[in-house]
Amino acid sequence: MSSPSASVIILGTGSYVPENIVTNDDMAKMVETSDEWIRTRTGICERRFAAENEATSDLACAAGERAIEAAGIDRSEIDLVIVATMTPDMPFPSTACLVQSKLGLNNICAFDVQAACSGFVYTIGIAQSMLLSGNFKKALIIGAEKTSPILDFEDRTTCVLFGDGAGAAVLSREDNLSGVGILGTLGGSDGSDPTLLQQPAGGSAIPPSVESIAARQHFLKMNGKEIFKQAVRVMGKASSDILERFDYSSDDINLVIPHQANMRIIDSLAKRMKLPMEKFHNNLDLYGNTSAASVGIALDEAYRAGRIKSGDLVLLVAFGAGLTWASALIKWQ
Ligand code: ACO
Repeated sequence: MSSPSASVIILGTGSYVPENIVTNDDMAKMVETSDEWIRTRTGICERRFAAENEATSDLACAAGERAIEAAGIDRSEIDLVIVATMTPDMPFPSTACLVQSKLGLNNICAFDVQAACSGFVYTIGIAQSMLLSGNFKKALIIGAEKTSPILDFEDRTTCVLFGDGAGAAVLSREDNLSGVGILGTLGGSDGSDPTLLQQPAGGSAIPPSVESIAARQHFLKMNGKEIFKQAVRVMGKASSDILERFDYSSDDINLVIPHQANMRIIDSLAKRMKLPMEKFHNNLDLYGNTSAASVGIALDEAYRAGRIKSGDLVLLVAFGAGLTWASALIKWQ
């Protein structure tokens, strides 16, 4: 069993984005759009698309390697690996099992989490609970997505928004330590209207068929306007609820790392929280929306850029298909 004063801290972070940069002008060669429209409506300037022979597990492994290296541990110490993704290599086995093998990890507990763009933050909460149970000591958590194969390049309202990449962290249970590391997480969902954001076919409801392919049902579909409204509301609530739970206010936060979906959503969140944009770390302009990878990539980037120091209070907050939402409050150690 873990000691009553145990904490879960982040030992190291890592991220990876594919080499291939696709600019807004490149997108304008595929669909009727423009750099000006994409920039002003979303804040996105470019995104990365993975190579044909690069699967989600490959992106996950590259980010995972970097997190293990940054943590300064031997990979044999890891006893739990969780991958958050909505674009697994295949329905089963899990991408986490493929990562376990490709990274040469022991025969440890490995599974995937499907909470779309909230996946990385959901996974922090799951890993924290499993580590605090006393049954595990060190977890490798990864958010990884290859969204490009499920984008409909005949639908300009969605294909310009997403990109590929992976973000990772090594989490460690530290006994006889309290009040630092991951203070807590919060997760929520509202599955009442799955059509807001979905990949309709390919599962048991609409198995793959000639008809489902012809109807383009294997591509991502989204009601952008409705998602936008919901996103601002649930990210605001997930942020204020977790701050309240730990008796903090917005003013106490050193850095917010929000899911990177749309700069206008992040602007609205900042206004709701009465925080200046300098307190937010954003990289949407470079990578677009990388779904479950987005918060992990931004966290790694912010840490490596020196934007997070020991003792800082960091808020992670995300929303995604489901709808799902999640937040995590970290006292950086
Ligand atoms: N290029 C040019 N014009 C476009 C494009 C485009 N790429 N896309 C849409 N338009 C047009 C529309 O056709 C429409 O034209 P019309 O007025 O002639 O009909 C016009 O632009 C306005 O379209 P809206 O949909 O009203 O544009 P809006 O300002 O709402 O922006 C957007 C759309 C960017 C999708 C926005 O609604 C949004 O960001 N929503 C949230 C999406 C999101 O966060 N998704 C991620 C969820 S996370 C996950 O789990 C994967």
